[in-house]
Amino acid sequence: MDQTPIAVAAPDAAGFRRAMGLFPTGVSIVTTGSGDSTSALTINAVTAVSLDPLLVLVSIGATGRMRFRIEAESVFGLSMLTDRQAGLCRTFARSDRPEGTAATHLLGATGPVSGVTLVEDALTALECRVHDRVDGGDHVLFLGRVVAIHDGENSARPLVFHRGRYVRIGLPLRTDQ
Ligand SMILES: Cc1cc2nc3c(=O)[nH]c(=O)nc-3n(C[C@H](O)[C@H](O)[C@H](O)COP(=O)(O)O)c2cc1C
Repeated sequence: MDQTPIAVAAPDAAGFRRAMGLFPTGVSIVTTGSGDSTSALTINAVTAVSLDPLLVLVSIGATGRMRFRIEAESVFGLSMLTDRQAGLCRTFARSDRPEGTAATHLLGATGPVSGVTLVEDALTALECRVHDRVDGGDHVLFLGRVVAIHDGENSARPLVFHRGRYVRIGLPLRTDQ
């Protein structure tokens, strides 16, 4: 039996962004450096990769400042944000985001193991040493070896990004649903 072909549009960036926007994520601030050399950037492309060794992956724009700063420092911090930190999230997603001492003051914490700047009162924060770096098209994928885990605001709710908006996590589902 003949089948009528279905027209399929070639995938493009707008469609990909829309599709991936349906997948809710937490929001983090990736940091590198400290004091007057702090750089920070809002990201949501974060994945836990391995337990042995402990590895986490972050995807960073290949042509942006942060990529080169992480390569220079070989260390990064990853602070997962609470729903009270949407302001910080917006600030560090701007092209003219604070750098150096101004960023250090806004973020407010320092990792004791690596010395990297972290976000104070985050949900949780990791200190990582760069373990590997992989080409990811217009991004670079950094695999970080986790050297410290900081328990944060355990009772706080995460900041969640969904369909291009910041949302709160809702009620738990019943287990039989
Ligand atoms: C919710 C959210 C998630 C983002 N996730 C990433 C990400 O995973 N990786 C990344 O490189 N940029 C990400 N960005 C974009 C950066 O925060 C920043 O806006 C972008 O790199 C522009 O900075 P530039 O002008 O210095 O290049 C995200 C922005 C927002 C608001």
